[in-house]
Amino acid sequence: MIMNSVKWLITLLLVFFLSHFSFSISADTITLDHFIHDNNDEAIVSAGNIFALGFFSPGSSTNRYVGIWYYQIPVKTAVWVANRDNPINDTSGILRIDARGNLALFQGNQTLPLWSTNISTATAGNSFAQILDSGNLVLLQNDTGKALLWQSFGHPTNTWLSFMKIGFNLRTGLNQSYTSWKSPDDPGVGNYTFRMNPGVSPQMVLYKGSVPVWRSGTWTGLMWSGIPEMAQNFLFNHSFVNTDDELSFSYHSINASLISRYVTNETGVTQRILWNNASQSWIISYTAPNELVFS
Ligand SMILES: *[C@@H]1O[C@H](CO)[C@@H](O)[C@H](O)[C@H]1NC(C)=O
Ligand SMILES: *[C@@H]1O[C@H](CO)[C@@H](O)[C@H](O)[C@H]1NC(C)=O
Ligand SMILES: *[C@@H]1O[C@H](CO)[C@@H](O)[C@H](O)[C@H]1NC(C)=O
Ligand SMILES: *[C@@H]1O[C@H](CO)[C@@H](O)[C@H](O)[C@H]1NC(C)=O
Ligand SMILES: *[C@@H]1O[C@H](CO)[C@@H](O)[C@H](O)[C@H]1NC(C)=O
Ligand SMILES: *[C@@H]1O[C@H](CO)[C@@H](O)[C@H](O)[C@H]1NC(C)=O
Ligand SMILES: *[C@@H]1O[C@H](CO)[C@@H](O)[C@H](O)[C@H]1NC(C)=O
Ligand SMILES: *[C@@H]1O[C@H](CO)[C@@H](O)[C@H](O)[C@H]1NC(C)=O
Ligand SMILES: *[C@@H]1O[C@H](CO)[C@@H](O)[C@H](O)[C@H]1NC(C)=O
Ligand SMILES: *[C@@H]1O[C@H](CO)[C@@H](O)[C@H](O)[C@H]1NC(C)=O
Repeated sequence: MIMNSVKWLITLLLVFFLSHFSFSISADTITLDHFIHDNNDEAIVSAGNIFALGFFSPGSSTNRYVGIWYYQIPVKTAVWVANRDNPINDTSGILRIDARGNLALFQGNQTLPLWSTNISTATAGNSFAQILDSGNLVLLQNDTGKALLWQSFGHPTNTWLSFMKIGFNLRTGLNQSYTSWKSPDDPGVGNYTFRMNPGVSPQMVLYKGSVPVWRSGTWTGLMWSGIPEMAQNFLFNHSFVNTDDELSFSYHSINASLISRYVTNETGVTQRILWNNASQSWIISYTAPNELVFS
C-alpha cells in the first residue's frame, strides 16, 4: 500500500515535471507574454521539431549567446547567432519583444539591449517572433496578416542553409554574406567572408579580410564554372537570380530530409556539410578552396 502510494506520487511528479518541461519548450513563438529566460533553460522549438532557438555556450566558452540549432541532432550545431560580438557573461539573459515591438536581448534588468532586430517599422504591442522549420527566425506583425518585418535569413552569420540567399536585394540594399566565427569558442565576426561580387559577371568569392582567396567562376546557367562538381548534382536544386531587383544565389535539398549546411569556417574554407544519420555525425561533402582537400 505504502509502496503503491510512493509509486503514485513519483508518477504524479514525473507527469507534472514532463508536462511542465514540455510546456517551457513547446511554443515556437516569443510574444509579449511569452519570453525566454536563460536562467530557466528556456527555448522555443519550430512546429516540426526541426530547429530550436535559445541560449547556448559554444565550444569550451562559458559566455552565453542566443542562437539557433538543430533540435534533433545530438551534436549541438549552431546555425545562427544573435549577439555574436556581445556575449553575456552570466545566465541572466532575457530574449523578449521590447516596447517598440522588436525582438531584443537583455542582460538581466538592463534597459539597453545587447542585440535587437532594431527595425523602425515594428510597432508597439503588435509583433511576435517565430522559429520556422527552415531555421528562419522571423519577426511578424500581428494585425496585418502576419506581414514579415525581419528575418534571420536576411542577416546570416557563418552558416548558409537551404533557401537562404547569398547576394543582394537591390531594392532594400540588403547585402547577404557569410562570415566566419573567430574560433570554435567565439562566434564573433572573424576574418573570412563568403559573398557575392556584383558586376558584369557575378561570382561568389571567399575573402580573407579584403583579399580574395577563392572565386566560384561565373554562372554558366547550370553551375558556377569553377565548381564542375555541380554538373553531377542530383541532391540540390540551385537558383541563380540576376534581375533589377535582386542578385542572388540559393540552393535547397530536393529531399527535405537531407540535412545540409554550408559553413564559412574560421580555418579559411567554405564547406558543404551533410548530416549522416547512420553514423550520427556530420560529413564534409565539398570544400572551397578545394586545393586544400585535393593537393
Ligand atoms: C559581466 O558583464 C557585466 C555587464 O557587461 C559587467 O558589468 C560585469 O563586470 C561582468 N562580470 C564579469 C565577471 O566579467
Ligand atoms: C537590477 O537587478 C539588480 C540585481 O538583481 C538589482 O540590484 C538592481 O537594483 C536592479 N536594477 C534595476 C534598475 O531594477
Ligand atoms: C539600432 O539602430 C540604430 C540606428 O541605426 C543604432 O544607432 C543603434 O545602436 C541600434 N541598436 C541596437 C541595439 O542594435
Ligand atoms: C494577435 O492579435 C490577436 C487579436 O487581437 C490576439 O488575440 C493575439 O493574442 C495576438 N497574438 C500575438 C502573438 O500578439
Ligand atoms: C557587401 O558587404 C561586404 C561586407 O560584408 C562589403 O565588403 C561589400 O563591399 C558589400 N558589397 C556591396 C556591393 O555593398
Ligand atoms: C584576423 O587577422 C588578423 C590579421 O592577420 C590577425 O591578427 C587576427 O588574429 C585574425 N583573427 C582571427 C580570429 O583569426
Ligand atoms: C527547383 O526550384 C524551382 C524554384 O526555385 C522549382 O520551380 C522546381 O520545382 C524545383 N525543382 C525540384 C526538383 O525541386
Ligand atoms: C528522402 O530521404 C529519406 C531518408 O533518406 C528517404 O527515406 C526517402 O525515401 C527520400 N524521399 C524521396 C522522395 O526520395
Ligand atoms: C572548422 O573546421 C574545423 C576543422 O575541420 C572543425 O573542427 C570546426 O568544427 C569547423 N568549424 C565550424 C564552425 O564548422
Ligand atoms: C535515423 O537513424 C535512427 C536510428 O539510428 C532511426 O531510428 C531513424 O529513423 C533515422 N532517421 C531517418 C530520417 O532516417
